[in-house]
Amino acid sequence: MEDRLISSDFRSSDIDESSLRPRTIEDYIGQTKVKDNLRIFIEAAKQRGEALDHVLLYGPPGLGKTSLAGVIASELGSNIKITSGPSIEKAGDLAAILTNLGEFDVLFIDEIHRLNRSVEEILYPAMEDYALDIIIGKGPSARSIRLDLPKFTLIGATTRAGLLTSPLRDRFGIINRLELYSHEELKMIIKRSAGILGIEIEEDAAQEIAMRSRGTPRIANRLLKRIRDFAQIKSNGNITLEVARFGLNALEIDQLGLDNTDRNVLQTIIEKFDGGPVGLDTLAASTGEEANTIEDVYEPYLLQLGFIQKTPRGRKATRLAYEHLGFTYVNNEMMQMTFEDTFNSQDE
Ligand SMILES: Nc1ncnc2c1ncn2[C@@H]1O[C@H](COP(=O)(O)OP(=O)(O)OP(=O)(O)O)[C@@H](O)[C@H]1O
Ligand SMILES: [Mg+2]
Repeated sequence: MEDRLISSDFRSSDIDESSLRPRTIEDYIGQTKVKDNLRIFIEAAKQRGEALDHVLLYGPPGLGKTSLAGVIASELGSNIKITSGPSIEKAGDLAAILTNLGEFDVLFIDEIHRLNRSVEEILYPAMEDYALDIIIGKGPSARSIRLDLPKFTLIGATTRAGLLTSPLRDRFGIINRLELYSHEELKMIIKRSAGILGIEIEEDAAQEIAMRSRGTPRIANRLLKRIRDFAQIKSNGNITLEVARFGLNALEIDQLGLDNTDRNVLQTIIEKFDGGPVGLDTLAASTGEEANTIEDVYEPYLLQLGFIQKTPRGRKATRLAYEHLGFTYVNNEMMQMTFEDTFNSQDE
């Protein structure tokens, strides 16, 4: 996992990511539906002189949640304070953050599903009534007082909306799921990043990298930087289609953006489990990957490609997956069904 070039998780080599991060809604490519709606909600809130309702952004890593939070704040003309679920340890930490907010500020909490319960409970009245309930004193003389907070907008980001408690989820007025990007959008992102980094890239080379970026801007940017290295050593620094193909093949990323680990997951389902269905935990154990990682990182793209199907009994490899890996497709469920049908009809 550590060495996986196309994992969409943030890695230390992405540290200069901030230079590529879109700052305005015009720079933020794709996610048209989400952006169009947000534009309206932002405009309406501004006209009424109110804080924008709280926003939850969810979707696989590297799709632009953190970037979008920044874009929303800049469209609102507000300050943004950035923190994350695991870094807020005590209820008091969150209370301190909240009381330091200014009117109409944006508070961004990344990985909001990892807030602990006592911290989360502070958030409920803060989100609902812009209020902070604190308890003063101990024992019988303890009393609760309510402090007013400035009107603020909470933006929460998570890769796992399913892990949010429902009282927390219900307090977000605007819930947006980010989708994987189209090749066209990724190509625009690659060209924009190349411009910022001063890399020369040909049109069809940008297209090639886009097609192998598994729908994810972070991966597109990462591949662009690696291919730049190939271009620097192999040609005069200019990324041509030939260099792009050479580099991507050297990195063992196939036509569809799958790497060895993806292929291993698919191959395991096909070879060890007759194409599935196989439960997530079993699949994780037999591939040596974490169940969470399979679910967050590999699966969204494999599902989008139609290579796997989620069924109540587990994951199944589809005909497309068999064909992509060069296996002959056997539909074992159909075989089972025919057998059962025959059996049943004999019964009658
Ligand atoms: N819509 C976009 N347009 C242009 N570039 C984008 C877009 N979305 C993401 N990027 C690029 O991808 C990088 C990763 O995006 P970002 O950090 O916002 O993802 P994330 O969803 O917050 O990921 P994580 O779940 O790991 O926190 C950004 O630095 C930016 O360069
Ligand atoms: Mg992020």
